[in-house]
Amino acid sequence: MQTPIGVFDSGFGGLTVLKEFMKQLPQYDYIYLGDNARAPYGNRSFETVYQYTLQCVSWLFKQNCPLIILACNTASAKALRTIQQNDLDKKFPGRKVLGVIRPTTEIIGNYSATNHVGIMATSGTVQSQSYLIEAGKFFPDATVVQQACPMLVPLIENNEFENEAADYFIQKYIHELLSRDDKIDTVLLACTHYPLIKKRIENFLPDGVHVIAQGEIVAASLEDYLYRHPEIEIQISTGKTVQFYTTDSAEDFNNHAGNFYGEAIAACHIEL
Ligand code: DGL
Repeated sequence: MQTPIGVFDSGFGGLTVLKEFMKQLPQYDYIYLGDNARAPYGNRSFETVYQYTLQCVSWLFKQNCPLIILACNTASAKALRTIQQNDLDKKFPGRKVLGVIRPTTEIIGNYSATNHVGIMATSGTVQSQSYLIEAGKFFPDATVVQQACPMLVPLIENNEFENEAADYFIQKYIHELLSRDDKIDTVLLACTHYPLIKKRIENFLPDGVHVIAQGEIVAASLEDYLYRHPEIEIQISTGKTVQFYTTDSAEDFNNHAGNFYGEAIAACHIEL
């Protein structure tokens, strides 16, 4: 039996990654689950993010997904390793869960000429130190500086990201980041919600500092993974369909999701 790839985020952010999957790997079927009822995850504890993510992953596995992408940095930082090490073999043998941090850190150093990279992320992702640890493996000589941006996901989830309040926080976070390292020439948007404010972030950065979003990087990495793992690839159905599910109101999801996905969406509500 062939079945879709599962794509998970705390809310809408993973849609920016799914959009790139649809561009680079349109042949497959996908099921997207947003845990909007409990988003944002960014300020929650390790245990809570792990429990919530495990519930969502379990639901996607119940839909028979052979492979799930955590299209959420916070869940990748705080839950992925525990799920891979403690839960997969026991509860879902043969299935796979991948995150977004490893594929990004594998190549992030290549974008920087100064070897100084800034990371903008949720507090949870910053607190986990995952970017420092992973980037240190691939680019040991790079200086990686993190900036927690706790107000950005709430502003984006509430559709309040194109106004002065959003600009105030964007400027504040950029100022804090660059005042700690003025050699940064590359800023990674290490939260899948942030592509919506990429242009606004670029506007407040000095010339010569470029901004990297993760979607394309994660999609290219998924393509490479499926090429290297034909035993997983063969289990994925190729009907070019996408189904959307949310733990909150489907109507709200449909109203907001277009901003992230670029086209209209018809989601269904689920109870976990
Ligand atoms: N899109 C999630 C991420 O990449 C947002 C996390 C949140 O819910 O705060 O980190």
